[in-house]
Amino acid sequence: MNIVSGDKDMKRTKSLTIILAILATFGFAFSGCKKEEGGLKFNHELHVVDNEMKCSECHEAGKDGKMENPSMDKCSECHDIDLDNPSDDCLMCHTLKSSLNDYSVEDSVPEKSKGYSDVVFTHEAHEDVECNTCHKGIEKDDTLAELEWPEMVTCQQCHNGDDAPSECETCHTKLNKETPPESHHGDWAMQHGPASRFDRSCAYCHDNPKRFCNDCHQTQKPKDHIFNWKTTQHGQDATHDRRLCAVCHPASYCSDCHRSQKPVSHARGDWMAYTRENGHAEAAKHNFRSCNVCHTTSECRQCHQNVILRK
Ligand code: HEC
Ligand code: HEC
Ligand code: HEC
Ligand code: HEC
Ligand code: HEC
Ligand code: HEC
Ligand code: HEC
Ligand code: HEC
Ligand code: HEC
Ligand code: HEC
Ligand code: HEC
Ligand code: HEC
Repeated sequence: MNIVSGDKDMKRTKSLTIILAILATFGFAFSGCKKEEGGLKFNHELHVVDNEMKCSECHEAGKDGKMENPSMDKCSECHDIDLDNPSDDCLMCHTLKSSLNDYSVEDSVPEKSKGYSDVVFTHEAHEDVECNTCHKGIEKDDTLAELEWPEMVTCQQCHNGDDAPSECETCHTKLNKETPPESHHGDWAMQHGPASRFDRSCAYCHDNPKRFCNDCHQTQKPKDHIFNWKTTQHGQDATHDRRLCAVCHPASYCSDCHRSQKPVSHARGDWMAYTRENGHAEAAKHNFRSCNVCHTTSECRQCHQNVILRK
């Protein structure tokens, strides 16, 4: 197969070059923590899905056990590369920076999280495992910059103590209880919630998580508890996901208040109007389940027999 780019593509490449030049200028100024595309453009989706290539056609374990990246020879099997006449055609795969720099190629994929700095891993021990079990979604990446490194939860699917060992030391060399891990920096006091639900490792360092976690949760409110939280918002959020509330509130905290505080609706002049079309009858028909939050069937049955509130 030969892929030759036509005139139209050449024009596109030229305007792309200008855009790239602009981007490169800004990229230089603002690169900060985001990694600059260090030299190579590649689309995994296009090759792995559209062209049905196997991972192993381009990546194989080298002598050091690390998976190697393909050389340009591999690409030449399908792409025309005229090395003697460098041109804009080279920019199909090389970035401008790479072309100005003798076409040298640095890593073009995002850096791993700092959490990786003490992680041991070998592909050898996982030969029988499909590549995309760990490299999730790689077949959908259309740029190298989107590549995601496996997260610990992915490892823990097998490293659960049954199928493979779960001891921290299996994968970590430096982890210790006294040093807050990388994740704990910055906004952690606000961000740890979601992590704690997936990551079963908290208890390893927080010996008594019940006390450590609960002490704080009884005094610190989440940021969604704004001034009108009680009257307008919390009901909706509780309906959305009650388990979240249980992280900090025992059920009695809710029911004690609901027994004494009426909703705004109850202040309607016609709340106890004795018709089927008005007041509480209308509200109940509109949203029967909401009554359930604060009332039991027996309370309603003090006045009529045919009402049943279900949990
Ligand atoms: C047609 C060749 C080709 C195929 C097929 C291919 N890749 Fe790649 N892969 C590349 C190239 C090129 C890079 C970028 C290498 C570089 O930055 O120097 C890359 C990068 C990667 C990286 C990051 C490597 C690093 O050094 O940081 C991973 C991980 C990866 N590929 C996994 C896979 C998996 C899993 C599959 C199968 C689903 C696959 N690749 C299929 C060509 C391929
Ligand atoms: C088995 C054949 C084959 C091999 C090997 C191969 N490619 Fe491709 N590549 C294709 C095909 C087919 C296309 C789609 C061409 C098109 O749509 O015009 C393509 C397109 C591309 C594109 C354009 C992507 C886009 O988004 O428009 C880039 C960049 C590319 N390949 C890079 C590489 C690199 C780098 C290698 C070597 C690591 C490589 N290819 C190896 C078949 C191959
Ligand atoms: C189809 C994609 C593709 C095209 C087109 C392409 N290259 Fe490459 N090139 C690669 C890949 C992949 C590598 C290997 C990257 C690596 O070593 O990690 C590479 C590496 C190189 C290197 C070696 C740099 C190093 O890492 O030491 C040179 C030199 C080079 N290319 C020159 C060119 C020139 C000149 C052209 C245009 C005539 C060109 N390339 C076009 C994909 C391409
Ligand atoms: C059990 C999980 C797992 C499986 C399966 C897996 N990988 Fe990886 N891969 C990783 C991890 C974790 C890293 C990062 C390693 C590190 O930082 O030491 C990695 C790194 C890589 C790299 C970068 C080079 C390196 O070795 O560090 C490439 C390329 C790669 N994998 C390709 C593949 C391909 C191709 C397959 C299938 C043949 C595959 N991987 C299967 C977890 C996996
Ligand atoms: C599909 C299941 C599976 C996944 C996913 C998986 N592993 Fe494994 N891993 C295994 C099995 C099975 C063994 C072999 C256990 C044994 O030899 O008793 C193993 C062994 C290991 C070993 C010990 C190797 C040795 O020989 O001492 C390390 C380290 C390791 N895995 C790290 C990881 C990391 C890091 C990840 C996530 C990126 C991961 N594994 C994901 C199944 C898995
Ligand atoms: C099978 C391998 C494996 C085992 C077993 C394992 N981890 Fe991890 N862990 C990883 C990988 C891979 C990463 C890096 C990925 C990431 O940062 O999400 C990581 C990252 C971490 C991080 C850093 C996360 C951050 O962002 O700060 C902490 C903390 C951690 N592990 C704690 C533990 C504890 C505690 C245990 C034992 C209860 C454990 N791990 C067991 C594979 C493992
Ligand atoms: C490797 C050990 C380690 C692991 C694993 C770990 N922590 Fe921590 N954590 C610490 C240390 C050390 C501190 C700071 C000292 C202290 O307050 O006890 C801390 C502090 C905290 C704080 C208080 C932050 C602040 O601003 O006051 C929260 C919240 C927290 N951890 C939650 C978690 C959650 C949730 C997990 C699981 C996803 C977890 N930790 C996993 C070691 C760890
Ligand atoms: C420094 C005080 C503090 C400590 C210690 C603490 N938390 Fe939190 N936690 C909070 C705050 C504040 C929120 C609300 C964050 C927000 O605004 O959404 C929260 C929210 C949560 C949420 C729900 C967040 C959501 O919206 O998804 C969970 C789950 C959670 N924490 C788990 C834990 C666990 C498990 C521990 C102990 C390992 C712990 N927390 C320790 C202060 C703390
Ligand atoms: C991170 C812990 C945390 C989570 C998660 C949390 N709350 Fe709270 N909540 C608090 C704290 C602390 C207070 C203040 C307690 C006090 O003043 O006695 C509070 C107060 C309240 C109040 C009383 C507000 C007032 O004005 O008196 C309501 C209502 C409430 N929460 C409902 C909820 C609901 C519903 C959810 C789930 C959607 C939820 N909370 C999740 C910690 C939490
Ligand atoms: C401080 C008193 C108070 C506490 C504590 C409280 N609520 Fe409420 N709740 C109310 C009031 C008042 C309303 C009615 C708001 C309105 O519509 O006027 C209400 C309404 C609701 C509704 C909406 C019912 C409807 O009309 O659809 C739900 C659901 C709800 N609360 C759940 C909870 C949960 C879950 C908790 C405990 C985590 C909780 N509430 C704690 C006072 C409280
Ligand atoms: C946030 C809690 C809460 C919700 C939600 C709620 N109620 Fe009530 N309701 C109360 C409280 C508190 C009272 C007063 C009970 C008392 O005085 O013993 C009350 C009283 C009543 C009464 C008796 C009025 C009276 O003055 O004797 C009726 C009828 C009633 N509610 C119907 C409903 C219906 C129908 C719904 C659903 C549409 C509903 N309530 C939803 C808390 C609630
Ligand atoms: C203080 C007495 C009283 C209480 C307590 C009461 N209701 Fe009613 N309710 C009435 C009266 C009176 C009517 C209008 C007469 C009728 O049409 O049956 C009515 C009508 C209704 C209707 C319309 C009946 C229909 O067949 O269309 C519904 C629905 C209803 N109430 C729901 C509730 C619910 C739910 C509760 C408990 C949360 C409740 N009521 C508690 C007195 C009460």
